[in-house]
Amino acid sequence: MIYNKGTGELKNWIIEEEIFDSGALGKCESIFCQGNGYLGLRAAAEEEYENTRRSLLVAGTFDKMPDDATELPNAADVTAMDIRINGEPLDLTKGECKNYSRTLNLKNGILKRSFLWTSEKGDEIQFEAWRVVSLKDLHLIASKIQITALNQDISLSVRSGIDGDRIPAPVHFSLQGKQENNGMLNLTAKTNESGVLFSLSSVQKAEIGGKQTEITARTQAESGMKIYTETAAAVAKGETFSLTKLSNVFTTRDKGADSLSQEELQARSLEHLQAVRERTFQSIAEESEKEWKERIWDTRDILIDSNREEDQLAIRFAIYHLTIMTPSHDNRMNIGAKGFSGPGYKGHSFWDTEIFMLPYFIFSSPKEARSLLEHRYNSLEAAQKNAAKNGYKGAMYPWESAWITDGEVTPEWALTGLMEHHITADVAFGVYSYYTVSGDLEFMERYGYKMIFETAKFWISRLEYNEELDRYEINHVIGPDEYKEDVNNNAYTNYMAHLNIMLAVQYAESLRTNKPYAFEAFDQDGSLSHILSEGRAKAEKIYLPRENADGLVPEDDTFLTLRDIADKDYSLSERIEESQKIAGQYGYFNVQISKQADVMVLFFLLEDLFSPEIKKKNFYYYEKRCFHDSSLSLSTHSILANDLGEKEQAYKLYTRASMIDLGPKMNSSNPGIHAASLGGIWQCTVFGFGGVRLYGDDLRIQPALPDNWSELKAPIYWKGQRLSLTISHQEFTVVNETAEEPVTILNNGKRYTFTDKLTLPC
Ligand code: BGC
Repeated sequence: MIYNKGTGELKNWIIEEEIFDSGALGKCESIFCQGNGYLGLRAAAEEEYENTRRSLLVAGTFDKMPDDATELPNAADVTAMDIRINGEPLDLTKGECKNYSRTLNLKNGILKRSFLWTSEKGDEIQFEAWRVVSLKDLHLIASKIQITALNQDISLSVRSGIDGDRIPAPVHFSLQGKQENNGMLNLTAKTNESGVLFSLSSVQKAEIGGKQTEITARTQAESGMKIYTETAAAVAKGETFSLTKLSNVFTTRDKGADSLSQEELQARSLEHLQAVRERTFQSIAEESEKEWKERIWDTRDILIDSNREEDQLAIRFAIYHLTIMTPSHDNRMNIGAKGFSGPGYKGHSFWDTEIFMLPYFIFSSPKEARSLLEHRYNSLEAAQKNAAKNGYKGAMYPWESAWITDGEVTPEWALTGLMEHHITADVAFGVYSYYTVSGDLEFMERYGYKMIFETAKFWISRLEYNEELDRYEINHVIGPDEYKEDVNNNAYTNYMAHLNIMLAVQYAESLRTNKPYAFEAFDQDGSLSHILSEGRAKAEKIYLPRENADGLVPEDDTFLTLRDIADKDYSLSERIEESQKIAGQYGYFNVQISKQADVMVLFFLLEDLFSPEIKKKNFYYYEKRCFHDSSLSLSTHSILANDLGEKEQAYKLYTRASMIDLGPKMNSSNPGIHAASLGGIWQCTVFGFGGVRLYGDDLRIQPALPDNWSELKAPIYWKGQRLSLTISHQEFTVVNETAEEPVTILNNGKRYTFTDKLTLPC
């Protein structure tokens, strides 16, 4: 169980594990994960347990094992420490452990462990450990342990270094070299298929009560991918031994480093370590904390005054993880569905980015949003090849993406790679949202227009004409609801494809009128003329499912014809907790149950397609039959419930969403945190209760706070202006902090323009 443990200034900043449970290590390793967008380090304990999963993942370093999909390889470990007290290994499953605590401070990213341990032989020690992945220096990891001998003198030994043999299989590396250089260890290895070189260096410094006496350190390099230092010390009763370890990692995937030789990369890593080796843990931690403060919390923190304190914690937990999982330093990289916190989904990116995480960046950090979209632009050629391979035109984005040139990387056993086509329209939707919110025309001219035109060309070629009904259909797809495979006319897919083509038509027309030279440049191969003629004509005839006689919008051609199980009336808890079991009993494909929000995502993204009455009717219908068997689901349902005035239900769905990683389920986060659901928590807060929404071309603000909340404060960016919102139940105020341009917002159907500040009733 994870507790919200900060007090005073640290209230709602600290998550804590209060009891050591060797059977539930995975959850804390994932949710206490540290990182900085360049690398992610799972929060494994120093000492080893049967279920420990050590993992250091570096953004973009994909490699492929034979007969498997490409994945982020586990780099050599720098966290493990074999600690022996009078020869006995530190092991909390033996002896006695008291006052155990492991905390993650979301404010500065520092992981801390402390406990009192009595070995089976009766030696008593106080153990403390701190670890930080610098947010300032993206290559740097610092850790420190402190051991105090409590009841007698002890002889202590700590073995630690760089270990490529300890990491979980599969091993993607072949060793290129290892060495000790003036006390610094270095290990260089290469990924087997992609040939990416990794060079890791590490240095340790031990002290007893500030002195470096009575300590010996020997470097050992046994066979295998491993090099370590063994530190031995005699620690008198009452004295404290401390060991600081600084490590780094560099790879040839780093920007501009792809042509470095093994020696050059090694030198880069060693020189970097040499430059920092005299620094204390404290100074590195403080520098990183300053970066967290200035870059993240001073600009993006959201304040929630709620009588349920976990709400404040949850949004900070989301922002913390969204920060460490996002490789915005490099536009050749994207966010993995589990960030860098575990092996789940192999580090691949999905529609999770555009529909669930990107909105947070668009409204809180537009530069990072742009970098994520530039990644899609950099993958455009691979998407074009993917389209051609499948017999289509334009660009067809892969359902699962890894390296920019890889194309489709969905494991072959999954049908999603062949059929979950809505991703292409989702990317286009991301471009439209970013452009409309930021006003970044330069982005459109360099990247965005082309992405919209190429994705539209894909859909134009993808449409199938149904002669009998004189309409275009999109058949043989998987929609967001992955319980239903190979369906025809998934409503979400059809509407999003239609939007994608119509955006292309709109942008092409605007270029023709306003920038004829740009129009001509794009139209050299006839692309735009094709979109404006054939594209527009076909789009007019795309089958866009409307509500049936019962007012229901069919998820696809068959969903509403399947056996209905509504008479069972499963509670929300049953649906969430027992989803697999119940769905398995019925057979996922055979009955009207959905894995996750599907038609509801459509209602959320394209609000005006259906009347509020129809939306409400459908919300109740689909919510009852939705098993929220994907962490992407609850947040969308919460936002819709709030929009429809169902405040209590919205809050209930939101609290469930906010507890996906933080809640009591001990195993569901083992393969990694649920990245999209963290984006979803931000969306529930800002888009849902805060009522902030991109609505057509407008910024609409229509808040409706839950009863538990008395105030919400959130910053957002709109057309380059930074706005700060303060929302209560009675009114809301928008302050234009940039105050350079007038801002127009839409509220209750009316437009208000202001330069400095606006207050309106809720
Ligand atoms: C969901 C997808 C999602 C993927 C990665 C699946 O279980 O059904 O919608 O993109 O997980 O998070």
